[in-house]
Amino acid sequence: MDMVDIIQKKRDGGELTDEEITYVIKGFTAGNIPDYQMSALLMAILFRNMTRREIFSLTRAMRDSGDTIDLSVIPGIKVDKHSSGGVGDKTTLVAAPVAAALGVPVAKMSGRGLGFTGGTIDKLESIPGMRTNLSVEQFVNQVREIGIAVTGQTGKIAPADKKIYALRDVTGTVDSIPLIASSIMSKKLAAGTDAIVLDVKCGRGAFMRNQEAADFLARLMISIARENGKKAAAIISGMDEPLGYAVGNSLEVAEAIDTLKGNGPADLTKLSISIAGLMAYEGEKVSSLEEGVEKAQEVLADGTALLKLRQMILYQNGDDSVIDDPSILGIAAASANVRAGLDGYVTAVDALRIGNASRHTGAGREEKGDAIDETAGIVLKKKVGSEVKKDDVLAVVYAADHEKARAAAQEAAAAFAIGPEKPAASNIVKDIIAE
Ligand code: URA
Repeated sequence: MDMVDIIQKKRDGGELTDEEITYVIKGFTAGNIPDYQMSALLMAILFRNMTRREIFSLTRAMRDSGDTIDLSVIPGIKVDKHSSGGVGDKTTLVAAPVAAALGVPVAKMSGRGLGFTGGTIDKLESIPGMRTNLSVEQFVNQVREIGIAVTGQTGKIAPADKKIYALRDVTGTVDSIPLIASSIMSKKLAAGTDAIVLDVKCGRGAFMRNQEAADFLARLMISIARENGKKAAAIISGMDEPLGYAVGNSLEVAEAIDTLKGNGPADLTKLSISIAGLMAYEGEKVSSLEEGVEKAQEVLADGTALLKLRQMILYQNGDDSVIDDPSILGIAAASANVRAGLDGYVTAVDALRIGNASRHTGAGREEKGDAIDETAGIVLKKKVGSEVKKDDVLAVVYAADHEKARAAAQEAAAAFAIGPEKPAASNIVKDIIAE
């Protein structure tokens, strides 16, 4: 087989065979196909798209490029939850303990933040002592013993995706639906759970800018899961403005704890409860989605879900006094306010701009491997629909020094739009796709 022929075939709109796809993935993972040829093929895929058969085949080849985890020693239907990425998205820290409190075995491998989006592992690591590099054995034992574990993905899961994603990031080939679906699902299939609940974001701060594209991606990923004998369901959620008020690692952990105490922002609470309810439904702990949502509300209100988070922190060596007093996480030394320039209503808080401003406080990384400032970030004081007076504080930006805080505050100020009319309220949960 010849890589040039394969590139030309896709360039001209042809359909690649299973053998050709396997050849490419194996060859690239082993280092036998150079980056320049793989980049050309990725660009051809971006322009020419792939058939469903090609996408299924690509996903399987990427899954099989590394280890697959065997969770069969854990009784019950093991459920994973995945978000397609957003700003202020601390949903896992709330939904996973809620689902675990409902008896769903939650086995979750999470990632780090890159670009304007955050990652659960960075957030968890802001808790003193917290371990996020569990071995597979520790991961499996913890889920068996307490029903929940959230850890970093081992390098042996879908290594093809790791290499391909790094190349996509620098060749303008991230936003291709076949490449996104196969990237996410190869990792999810390798991680070994029986069911996957997908939170597919749409809006300014998401890969999918509109609901139609998010819906298409969600249905495609569900069909990949089912084709491989897994259960799957999806929530389409809004990501025009950041989720909740806090953006940045320790700031988001504190907000997630507040939410598990019943004092969280409305959008974060609603989305987390919906996801946990769907996880309970997929995990067959309830007989309808409505019952799942109802039960999720109960375990949030009675403190059982908070107890699950405490248990998980303790099992992973973290300091659980953070549950009683999130202020132990600390806050960056310098701050700067973003103020309203006029009276009116907040009509937009651009999640992409806030995500980038937060990254520039030090809360995110410019490149993989960069160190992050766990205590930096942005706390919104107003969200879309808030009435404001000139000079009201719209957001507070935290960073290690005043210069950084002021520069990020200037960037964050551009995220806010203020108009004379109160905008119509929009629902955070746009759609639910379940059987
Ligand atoms: N998340 C992934 O894991 N891969 C993508 O391609 C996009 C989002």
